[in-house]
Amino acid sequence: MAQTLNTAVTRVDARRKVTGTATYAGDVVPAGMLHGALACSAIAVGRVASIDTARAEAEPGVVAVFTHETLPDYRTVKGFYAGGPGSASFWPMEGTEVRYSGQPVAYVVAETAAAARRGAALVAVIYEEGEARIHMDEGESFVVGAGEESEGMVTTVGDVAAGMEAAAQTVDATYTTPFQHHNPMEMFSATAEWRGEHLTVWMPSQSVRTLRGGIAKAYGLPETAVRVVSPFVGGAFGSKAGITPYTMLTIAAAKAVGQPVRLVVTRPQMYTVATFRPESVQRFRLGAAADGKLTAFEHVEIAQTSRFDDVVNPGTHMTRAMYASPNIRTEQRLARSDTNTGGFMRAPNEMQTFFGLESAMDELAWKLGMDPVELRRANDTDRHPVEDVPFSSRSLMESYDAVARSFGWADRGREVGAMRDGDWLVGYGCATATYPTNISPSSARVRMQGSGHAYVELAAHDVGTGSYTIFAQIAAARLGLPVEAVDVVMGEADLPLAPISGGSTTAASAGSAVHLACLNIGRGVAEKVAAQSEGPLAGVDPARITLEDGMLRGPDGQSQSLVEALASTPMGELEAEGQYRHPALTDQALRMTYQGGYGVAGPVTPERAMFAFGAQMAEVRIHRFTHEIRVPRLHGAFAAGTWLNRKTAHSQLMGGMVWGIGSALHEVTETDTPRARFLNANIAEYLVPVNADVREIRVEMLEERDDYVNPLGVKGIGELGIVGTAAAIGNAIYHATGTRLRSLPMHIPSLIQA
Ligand code: MOS
Repeated sequence: MAQTLNTAVTRVDARRKVTGTATYAGDVVPAGMLHGALACSAIAVGRVASIDTARAEAEPGVVAVFTHETLPDYRTVKGFYAGGPGSASFWPMEGTEVRYSGQPVAYVVAETAAAARRGAALVAVIYEEGEARIHMDEGESFVVGAGEESEGMVTTVGDVAAGMEAAAQTVDATYTTPFQHHNPMEMFSATAEWRGEHLTVWMPSQSVRTLRGGIAKAYGLPETAVRVVSPFVGGAFGSKAGITPYTMLTIAAAKAVGQPVRLVVTRPQMYTVATFRPESVQRFRLGAAADGKLTAFEHVEIAQTSRFDDVVNPGTHMTRAMYASPNIRTEQRLARSDTNTGGFMRAPNEMQTFFGLESAMDELAWKLGMDPVELRRANDTDRHPVEDVPFSSRSLMESYDAVARSFGWADRGREVGAMRDGDWLVGYGCATATYPTNISPSSARVRMQGSGHAYVELAAHDVGTGSYTIFAQIAAARLGLPVEAVDVVMGEADLPLAPISGGSTTAASAGSAVHLACLNIGRGVAEKVAAQSEGPLAGVDPARITLEDGMLRGPDGQSQSLVEALASTPMGELEAEGQYRHPALTDQALRMTYQGGYGVAGPVTPERAMFAFGAQMAEVRIHRFTHEIRVPRLHGAFAAGTWLNRKTAHSQLMGGMVWGIGSALHEVTETDTPRARFLNANIAEYLVPVNADVREIRVEMLEERDDYVNPLGVKGIGELGIVGTAAAIGNAIYHATGTRLRSLPMHIPSLIQA
């Protein structure tokens, strides 16, 4: 059997995707379907004084216009940060209150999508407008739960003041990151169909079980009466994880009109109805001895949150895990402003916090007169500096050494401005990448046929990452079948429990369940063939038969392929479940997962700290007259345990690095500050890197073995690649120009103003 893991397998759904035959949730057209459209608030804070729907209702094709006064049986759920499945705690259209710009105020149902949108534009609202502020005020920041139970939001080890005092060199610097918004290619959509007390919802989702559980509870229905379908997802990145107002409004509207309704949220509306990356301020104070060893490490993060949710993505929990220091202090703070609730967006705190940390480390290296790679080496550690447990594996310096070789790090000019090419100033910069390994409980069902075909079923998702392919590969490897002989079924809530596709959990968690299910197939077949009167394994103690790469092996060298063994039994086919629970998973985390929540073991367990690591190096060229910034080369080396698929993993890492270029040089959600609105709410004006901005990207995937994280030895990689890119680019800009940019994005005006 050819090896199927750690090879470059082409996506099993590639043909369907490129030929347009992959059916996304928004492609489904239930019989009699009508179209929905949202009318959204023009003010950020205040009240709806009155709504006139007459013109909208008179528009040809419009079937109904619902407002807070007229939408019957609209239900809501608790917000994620209050322990529920919702994207936010405040629900629009429950009353007259307006709490953010772009909040839905009316829902139009029409015979066509165009008519629904025309109707939405004709809804006339009179507001009482209140005071609104879109940017946070750092002076009003607070620590969640401070005073009572702050759950690690403030950490102190040793004495940072003494460590700063003892340092040969110190850095005290503040870095800021802006609001940034998701722009997945696939629009947000929801399609709802009621048949009596049975409801079907088609919606691109990172968690079909979260959707089903929350919707069923909101309507007082048994979960079996709610079907949630999300076969393909065209990019999610954190934006499709919760139950949103547009979901519940569509469900209510479909119920009210007695026909199925599909809503496709417009691109501008996508900026206000789902999660986004909140703006942040990162202050680092570092002290080091002359040899580079840290004597003090302090990180205070202030992140923006809405008025009604405490969005805690504790970036300080990641930065404090990176480098050894006897004195460590971290503080996780929030500050409120008038927006919808933000939160998850690819590497939802690591992108921001590692721009800060890895820029600060570079500043420290320059002050010490040290190679920045050697500064990381001087502070590398095999134990978590705060939790004092060993890392399950940590290939940080192996990553630096590998990327330094491929990049030619040693060949750089050592001084600021030492490298030039005509009118272009050239600089090199490096930064650490990391992502916590979060392991969820998961189950999977595998059915294998003696004809040599297998089916894998689980309530997981392919958010565009290649999950269909890696689950097929895992089953193919274990069962000894070609990848094409395995069919994977996902994206339905009634399939075996699988985790939310967030936090880079899916491959490691659900993959382990697929692996265990296949081992259970092996056990079942072994028992049957051992009990038969003839065959190579007849009469062997079944407890001593093992399954290895599709071969059943007895203790004395007997062997038979699993598929032949299965075919030799009268069963013809066999089904088995695999249930994977990391030993460190708490009962509470397990319960949370069953309730549709985010339950994980890690990244720190009582025995180990689990993180994936990598290192990035960037070359920048800055035109000395125009200040144009180019990134001709970006190299990364990453170690994340076992590579399941070298092609899809490479794509994830490369995609993260491309997005990293965007976060460094392009992306910012501009604000109309007086009106507290996001301005460039479209993909023409919200800048992302295009091909001209992305030149040579090299991704090196290092071998790493980790027996602690899970039976496959897999760590998550969906978010790893974006972490550190912005700092590597900023550090290269400093090397080229001597100008330190501490705010994202770094662009021509930043260099002119610096
Ligand atoms: Mo991702 S931001 O963990 O969906």
